[in-house]
Amino acid sequence: MKISPSILDADFESLQSEVNSIASADRIHLDIMDGQYVERKTFRASDIQHVEFPLPIEAHLMVNDPKSFFDEFEKLGVIGITFHIETQDEEGTLKLFEDLKKRGLTAGICVDGHTDYEVLSDEILKNADKILVMSVKAGMGGQSFIPDTLKKIKTLRERGFKREIEADGGVNLDNARGLKEAGADIVVVGSFVMKKGPTERQAIISAFQSV
Ligand code: DX5
Ligand code: ZN
Repeated sequence: MKISPSILDADFESLQSEVNSIASADRIHLDIMDGQYVERKTFRASDIQHVEFPLPIEAHLMVNDPKSFFDEFEKLGVIGITFHIETQDEEGTLKLFEDLKKRGLTAGICVDGHTDYEVLSDEILKNADKILVMSVKAGMGGQSFIPDTLKKIKTLRERGFKREIEADGGVNLDNARGLKEAGADIVVVGSFVMKKGPTERQAIISAFQSV
């Protein structure tokens, strides 16, 4: 199983050494919150532009107006951007996918923890490069995993979605195997990695990679 640690709860005073400590992972997950779609407000691209990321980075935009964040994160060098289906209708979603693909970025769609999966139309599944399945309600790290997530991932596979499925929220070494069996390719892990000291992180990352 691939792992993409979230730096949401990293120590931003020493962000360079924080990201260096997770360099054995597969990617790094940037959680962007606007204080509107979710209550909390996090960093912008300019706040982390001084950091040399040792791995490919991806942005998860928990924001009401995703398009207004595309330029800055493209410039920062992300490989992909994922935005929330709750903020768009189908037409808007497809337009944003097109915009991201034109920029050479992976176009991802995220469905929040308590949103019904039927909002993902066949047309959206056909055009999404990846689906980020939230296993908590978006907004903060350290919440408990919603068990129903496994069924949601299985359903997406049964509907024929073959590209990447990533699970995000409350992921730990107890639920990672179930996620993989349900059909997830990669997990976002926040507190379970970042709450540990820098030296312990590598062992946890490799435990996920062995699942
Ligand atoms: C939640 C974020 C997640 C979160 C993961 O709104 O999208 O990426 O930081 O953190 P944990 O693993 O602690 O749930
Ligand atoms: Zn996230």
